[in-house]
Amino acid sequence: MLDVRLFLNMPIPLSQRLSLIKPSLTMAVEARAKALKKAGIDIIGFGAGEPDFDTPDFIKEAAVRAIRDGFTRYTPVGGMDELKEAVCFRFKTDLGLEYQPQEVVVGCGGKHVLYNIAQALWGPGDEVLVPAPCWVSYPPLILLAGATPILLPTREENGFKLTPEELAAAVTERTRALILNSPSNPTGAVYDREELEALGRVILEKDLLVVSDDIYDKILFDGRSFVNLAQLGPEYRARTLVVNGVSKSYAMTGWRIGFLAGPPEIIDAVNTIQSHSTSNPNSIAQKAAVAALTGPQDFVPQMVAELNRRRNYIVDRLNALPGIRVRPPAGAFYIFPDFSAYFGRIFREPDVKDSLKLADYLLEKAQIAVVPGAAFGADSCLRFSYTVPLDLIEKGLKRLEKALSRL
Ligand SMILES: Cc1ncc(COP(=O)(O)O)c(C=O)c1O
Repeated sequence: MLDVRLFLNMPIPLSQRLSLIKPSLTMAVEARAKALKKAGIDIIGFGAGEPDFDTPDFIKEAAVRAIRDGFTRYTPVGGMDELKEAVCFRFKTDLGLEYQPQEVVVGCGGKHVLYNIAQALWGPGDEVLVPAPCWVSYPPLILLAGATPILLPTREENGFKLTPEELAAAVTERTRALILNSPSNPTGAVYDREELEALGRVILEKDLLVVSDDIYDKILFDGRSFVNLAQLGPEYRARTLVVNGVSKSYAMTGWRIGFLAGPPEIIDAVNTIQSHSTSNPNSIAQKAAVAALTGPQDFVPQMVAELNRRRNYIVDRLNALPGIRVRPPAGAFYIFPDFSAYFGRIFREPDVKDSLKLADYLLEKAQIAVVPGAAFGADSCLRFSYTVPLDLIEKGLKRLEKALSRL
């Protein structure tokens, strides 16, 4: 590769903004695991934040049809009407939430939609509340907007859920919004209606805007049904930005379609940002997303049933490890056990004292990839994705047991 620095007399100056953030640690773990696999090392990857299922055929067919029909040009910036209508149809059918297409904007994945929200709404001096442990990308996308993420630590004994008292105590005159993510990445925590109502009273009293990141809304276990803040009534709907997408529910992570439903003035603001960055999301993926949202939904419960089988297995096996106690996650496809009992206690590995070092140790010695809890603001934990077939989970956990038993 040509080194451009040979032609420059100065270091390439990078933006000051960039110094605020680091590359996503979850993506780094995935990339490292993939590189080792490519080098012929038999790595079992518990790092991926995506379903291991294939996108259903009828969705792929819709994309093939779109290409054949020449649906290969720009669409409106915020997505074509047909897709916005499909989004409204799903909100109405699944959640009883009425939205009009002008209250919806489609972006290149949920992450892009969240980025655009941050760019459109927040800036220097603004604080955005984020219950932690939290998804890796919330703090960086708030920082990139020039605002300050305020991490609100939640407690394991509260199921990693924010309490109304904790929320009330965190609000200042600079608070611009709260991000809620249920089911949660990385903890799998799910807020039930009563818990949301209790938070909702504080949200109304403090006049907060809420970003409800519902990307895992269809991945729930033990008969739970999904509820978000907007469903609690019109006064809540008016202050909630509902973010979702097709990535997780329909095994479509690579297609990059996410969406937002919310107040039209915010939709317009997001559209303006998008009009000068990506323009419309991929036209072919939009057609596929229409098929996903309006077609047969039986793929979703089938995938959830398989994830549930894996969840139950991994919970039992982890709980059989000395020093580990983990509750079954209520949703999503992650489990987030506390491994601090092993810090500094692994035979001949006294330096393995934090989640980064333990994840490195497990990658090297057990050939399993997990994400260090530090990436999510909880250094005592490790995140395992159970987006791996059951036989590999079994094999991976055997390796984990062996690597940890050298105490
Ligand atoms: C909590 C959370 N929100 C949003 C996203 C974004 O997903 P996508 O950009 O694929 O729609 C992810 C993906 O990992 C996530 O875990």
